[in-house]
Amino acid sequence: MREWRGDEVLGLGSRDVDIRDAARVQEVVEQSRPGWVVLAAAYTDVDGCESHPELAFAVNRDGPLNVAGAAKRVGAKLLFLSSDYVFDGKKTSPYEIQDARNPQSVYGRSKAEAEVGLLEILPECCIARTSWLFGTGGKCFPDTILKLATSRPALDVVDDQRGCPTYAVDLSRAIIGLCRKNASGIVHVTNTGDCSWFEFARAILNGAGSTTEVRPVSSQQMARPAPRPAYSVLSPESLRQNEIAMPTWQDALQRYLQERRH
Ligand SMILES: NC(=O)c1ccc[n+]([C@@H]2O[C@H](COP(=O)([O-])OP(=O)(O)OC[C@H]3O[C@@H](n4cnc5c(N)ncnc54)[C@H](OP(=O)(O)O)[C@@H]3O)[C@@H](O)[C@H]2O)c1
Repeated sequence: MREWRGDEVLGLGSRDVDIRDAARVQEVVEQSRPGWVVLAAAYTDVDGCESHPELAFAVNRDGPLNVAGAAKRVGAKLLFLSSDYVFDGKKTSPYEIQDARNPQSVYGRSKAEAEVGLLEILPECCIARTSWLFGTGGKCFPDTILKLATSRPALDVVDDQRGCPTYAVDLSRAIIGLCRKNASGIVHVTNTGDCSWFEFARAILNGAGSTTEVRPVSSQQMARPAPRPAYSVLSPESLRQNEIAMPTWQDALQRYLQERRH
């Protein structure tokens, strides 16, 4: 909402509309009759999804299908935010949009099934897959690391999962660009470069001038309910085809740290 200028933009939250409620979704879309609907709402607690699969599929798959149905009825285009977790993480080079989905978690399955259903309802919709989001708008990995660093001399962080951190500001600008270019199909939208969570944590602490030590550990040592892909770097090729370039994650991190200080 902060980034979008020059168009009329209506921001809706969960208090305005629960996307599980098809009739309400239809009502709000008909009231505003938008040119585009950007759908970011999701149940994003990856471990929570594992223990509440019904909720995960209701919000992450059925909700978007309700929104797609409403968008279709008023002739609006839809941009849906999806995730690197639709992949199994077994590749060792960046995932292209043609690579097969093979989600390993309930969250990943719910997003993957949404993608398939959306493309059936609205073949021209745009599916923007992103990864490892951070920003000043809420809880995120850099914020958690910086808060923990104030009370602990050392932090253990997973070093065997690689991905690409993505700054919400850069993602927002890319989304706006995609809508303006009338993009359709699957697009991978992340900052560029890649790192492990350990490397990301080290860069965060260095960037913030913290002296807290960070130690690499394995996913096995930090067992979580939902399996995470070991490698989920998304190729920038599809974004490049839309003539949109993204900054590196290191550049994005510096801007995030600056924004966080103010
Ligand atoms: N975070 C990541 O690293 C990441 C990575 C890849 C893709 N994504 C995708 O990017 C999008 C944004 O992620 P995020 O991390 O910014 O999410 P987030 O901070 O968890 O925000 C999700 C939003 O969805 C709303 N919501 C939840 N259930 C809803 C429902 N039934 N009806 C309407 N709204 C509902 C939440 O409202 P309340 O707070 O009121 O519940 C919240 O405002 C999601 O689609 C996510 O799957 C995220």
